[in-house]
Amino acid sequence: MMRRFPPGFVWGTATAAHQVEGGNWNNDWWAWEHDPSSPCEEPSGDACDHWHRYPDDVRLCAELGFGAYRFSLEWSRIEPEEGEFSRAALDHYRRMCATCREHGLEPIVTFHHFTTPRWVAARGGWAVPETADRFARFCARAAAHLGDVIARACTLNEPNIVATMGYLYAMFPPGKRDPDLRRRVNEVFVDAHRKAVDAIHGGPGSAPVGLTLAMSDNQAVPGGEAARDRYRRDMEDVFLEAARGDDFIGVQCYSRTRFGREGMLGPENGVRTTQMGYEFWPEALEATIRRAAAVTGGVPVLVTENGIGTENDAERIEYVARALPGVLACLADGIDVRGYVYWSLLDNFEWVFGYRPTFGLVAVDRATQVRTPKPSAAWLGGIARANAFDVPATA
Ligand code: BGC
Repeated sequence: MMRRFPPGFVWGTATAAHQVEGGNWNNDWWAWEHDPSSPCEEPSGDACDHWHRYPDDVRLCAELGFGAYRFSLEWSRIEPEEGEFSRAALDHYRRMCATCREHGLEPIVTFHHFTTPRWVAARGGWAVPETADRFARFCARAAAHLGDVIARACTLNEPNIVATMGYLYAMFPPGKRDPDLRRRVNEVFVDAHRKAVDAIHGGPGSAPVGLTLAMSDNQAVPGGEAARDRYRRDMEDVFLEAARGDDFIGVQCYSRTRFGREGMLGPENGVRTTQMGYEFWPEALEATIRRAAAVTGGVPVLVTENGIGTENDAERIEYVARALPGVLACLADGIDVRGYVYWSLLDNFEWVFGYRPTFGLVAVDRATQVRTPKPSAAWLGGIARANAFDVPATA
């Protein structure tokens, strides 16, 4: 049955600076990738050379049928040392926004996507409260330069993942395992977000400003409710509560997570897993949209990331085809969902896992940088163009 999305519903694809630009040597991730004690599989290197190839990539995104392109600013390029701002780097991102607009794409700009300049990390990174002020100063400067060309602004990408993976599970820099520190980092991020919202709103233009959060459909098996709620408190709720009153909340969802009495459980026997090791569970998107809207008290939702790492492109189509009916169900219930952004436009640098997981609608040849759209690119672009989805009878 053909189901229409509301007029103005945004369809986009996303990337992030460090995962695609290449040569971002001046941030904490580059250092982490080259630290033999880190779990990183390989360094990011040239990534997708998007720094130079963005005109072609942006054009491709538009030609496929999308109406928005979400990308991020690399703080370490814009402010390579404390207080030294690069006009040339700001101009680069201004040209990216202009290129989006020339092709009819809304530029959705993220001000921090996982990577932090080396000088910020050296001064204590996200564990010290001053970093919130340093980030707000960066946001003010970037917004002054770009505010009039940005369509929507995301302050921080998944601060919950940076805090958890960096300060609890030692998977991201700075590689700590300290539950109290992780909670303090959460507070610094909340402060940074609030200050960034004011800084960006204080600049030119009138782009809506929001936070993006990694969310999972957190399910308790009988007896696991308390463990689930404890996990959810530090992982999601502190941030959802901090987003009350914002212009939107960016929901980023990939799977579900199950909890038993002792805590987090792995994938359930018999459930398919993805290249990332977690369950193939596209229905999680609906649950996370509902929860984001409920806990924020009705802040409009933008799905800023949803997608799958798979070598089988037919499975990507299956994943999205099973996620979209959930978006329609939320809309039918009156939840204000503003758009759907697929992660990612390109196969790119998947953090600790290097280039192995392939989330892209478009394949990238690592030796030649040649881009090859997969069948899913035309399929999802067609849905974007039509602003409608033919819901399979089984969904
Ligand atoms: C992040 C992306 C990442 C994606 C897939 C999100 O957590 O924002 O940077 O590539 O998930 O794992």
